[in-house]
Amino acid sequence: MKYLITGANGQLATEFRKSFEANTSIEVLALSKDKLDITDVKSLEDVILNFKPNIIINCAAYNDVDGAESERDIAFKINCEGPGFLAKFAYKIGALLVHYSTDYVFDGTKEDFYTEEDEPNPLSVYGKSKLEGEKAIISETDNYLIFRVSWVFGEGRQNFFYKLSQWMQKNRVIKIVSDQVSIPCYSEDIVKVTRRAIDKGLKGLFHLTNSGYASRYEVARFYVDISGKDNLILPVATSYFKTPAQRPYFSALSNKRISKILEIEIPHWKNALERYVKRGIQDKKYDTLF
Ligand SMILES: NC(=O)c1ccc[n+]([C@@H]2O[C@H](COP(=O)([O-])OP(=O)(O)OC[C@H]3O[C@@H](n4cnc5c(N)ncnc54)[C@H](OP(=O)(O)O)[C@@H]3O)[C@@H](O)[C@H]2O)c1
Repeated sequence: MKYLITGANGQLATEFRKSFEANTSIEVLALSKDKLDITDVKSLEDVILNFKPNIIINCAAYNDVDGAESERDIAFKINCEGPGFLAKFAYKIGALLVHYSTDYVFDGTKEDFYTEEDEPNPLSVYGKSKLEGEKAIISETDNYLIFRVSWVFGEGRQNFFYKLSQWMQKNRVIKIVSDQVSIPCYSEDIVKVTRRAIDKGLKGLFHLTNSGYASRYEVARFYVDISGKDNLILPVATSYFKTPAQRPYFSALSNKRISKILEIEIPHWKNALERYVKRGIQDKKYDTLF
């Protein structure tokens, strides 16, 4: 089997690279943005038609939720146009395209877990660009796996716990919003479930999260506790911080469908966070390829 991984220096891609390391029957070509820009259609075509992967895992994304408000075109190019190109070439060579979307496609007003049947209504440019990315893929191929994930954490710096650990070193008292509720998702668990879904030949769009739910405030408190620190975490409302992007109030995704189909129980986010802290990668720099 041949796998192509894009955005290879990101958190999820790093976890995929590690999970494939021991597997000699799988040939992996993992390319960072410097080697393969997914918005560069010519380079994409060259790489995909030459390497001819069986499976393409797209880990490339524009994830700066606030930045997207002023960089709309860049966000749409990376989160929508690029995935569309990938789907087109994947279809051409009969490859499966695995792609990740977000809970921010929902507006957070449902007051219950979001299922795959719920109608998206993104509040931010980032959410809109990711939703259009899903549509771009679905319009090009039916050989896809799209997983909506939330609050991804793993090895790398584009996550809440890296930022929190930086703030904790500088300040004892930290204010964290208590009116944004979702589910922290561990890269290790996302990779395990994705690989199982691939092995089972699953196709379609699924919600893939750890179990449970929590506010950013609750998550931060739990993180401080298990890190053995004495920082004080105070709850504040979203309105306390003036951020360019609007974020949903309750955007927790239901993982029931994927759990049932794959006959698995996805660990609670607290269990995932404990494993992450034990692994000691929250302060680690990207394990970059190039
Ligand atoms: N992180 C989250 O909290 C979160 C939440 C919900 C959904 N997701 C989704 O989950 C997936 C994985 O996220 P992640 O946390 O692993 O993201 P990440 O750590 O930010 O990694 C994304 C990678 O994509 C690269 N990239 C950006 N533009 C590119 C381009 N034009 N061509 C190729 N590579 C490019 C980035 O490189 P540079 O760093 O050099 O720009 C980075 O290495 C993404 O689809 C993301 O939207 C993430």
